[in-house]
Amino acid sequence: MGEAMESTRGKLIEILSNHPEEYLSGQKLSQQLNISRPAVWKHMKELEKDGYGIEASPRKGYKIITFPDKVSTNTLSWGLKTKWLGQDMIHKPSVTSTQVIAHQEAQDGAAHGTVIVADEQTKGRGRLNRSWHSHKGDGVWMSIILRPKFEPHKSPQITLLAATVLAEVFKKYCGISPQIKWPNDLLTNGKKLSGILTELQAEQDQINYIVLGMGINVNHSVEQFPEEIMNQATSLKIETGENWEIHTLIQQILNTFEKRYQEFIEEGFRSVKLRWEAFGYRIGEHVAITTHQQEWNALIMGIEHDGALKVRDEEGKEHVLYSAEIKW
Ligand code: BTN
Repeated sequence: MGEAMESTRGKLIEILSNHPEEYLSGQKLSQQLNISRPAVWKHMKELEKDGYGIEASPRKGYKIITFPDKVSTNTLSWGLKTKWLGQDMIHKPSVTSTQVIAHQEAQDGAAHGTVIVADEQTKGRGRLNRSWHSHKGDGVWMSIILRPKFEPHKSPQITLLAATVLAEVFKKYCGISPQIKWPNDLLTNGKKLSGILTELQAEQDQINYIVLGMGINVNHSVEQFPEEIMNQATSLKIETGENWEIHTLIQQILNTFEKRYQEFIEEGFRSVKLRWEAFGYRIGEHVAITTHQQEWNALIMGIEHDGALKVRDEEGKEHVLYSAEIKW
């Protein structure tokens, strides 16, 4: 498709998606897009080929009834209510890891809020050098480039913020009750639904950029997970019995993330802390913790004002942990 044609198509989609369930006359569209009425008709036929459901009435005009299920920059971009997040959107059918693409893009100057989405990752990365299973079309495999102005030591707070955003979306949009295992694993019924990987490129006192990776298991059935994680992993489909549209889910996440990020920048970590604790896994329960090769028992109290884990030992002494091995 030529560039002019592509931008006309983009504008047409934008107009249609701003007026869902409403007929728009061929004449009005041809004026708005500055093309002929037969050209409008041709574009509509092309959209139908792309999976859009369009109702055409000779007297009333065109109405969009369904949007395609497939992920593309178009389907990702419409319905997105953000000002900056995802305004630059990159979608790839297959990548090694969206983190790798995001680092390249960021080094080439990609803007704050650029989002990279892939249908499949052949070398998905998890935390602690683990791999991340990212089967084609089954999940959200996404990385966000952020260029915050705060100091590098605050960057772990972004990970906790991201976890609260995912928990909020899973609860409100998918109707499940997720829990966040400190610092940022999303669990349902004790199994992992989603993981977050934050990678930082910074100098002493300044963040160059953050790549925030989110992986969500969406439409997997139990047998679709590799055997070694089958007992520990779950998906939205397993939890709800429904299939979920990947692009709509991504939009919900981006819309919510932008709002919560803005609150975090304006009000600080306080707002994140409260939300995080509302979803916190095993708060008020005892766990075994290993620090400096010593195992001890502690009660999980919540998180500190900076995101560190707050626990109380058996003698009643409080500790603030930035990293620890915890037997959940
Ligand atoms: C974890 O270990 O829990 C973190 C998993 C993070 C996975 C996501 S999927 C999108 C992005 N690209 C990657 O390679 N990893 C992150």
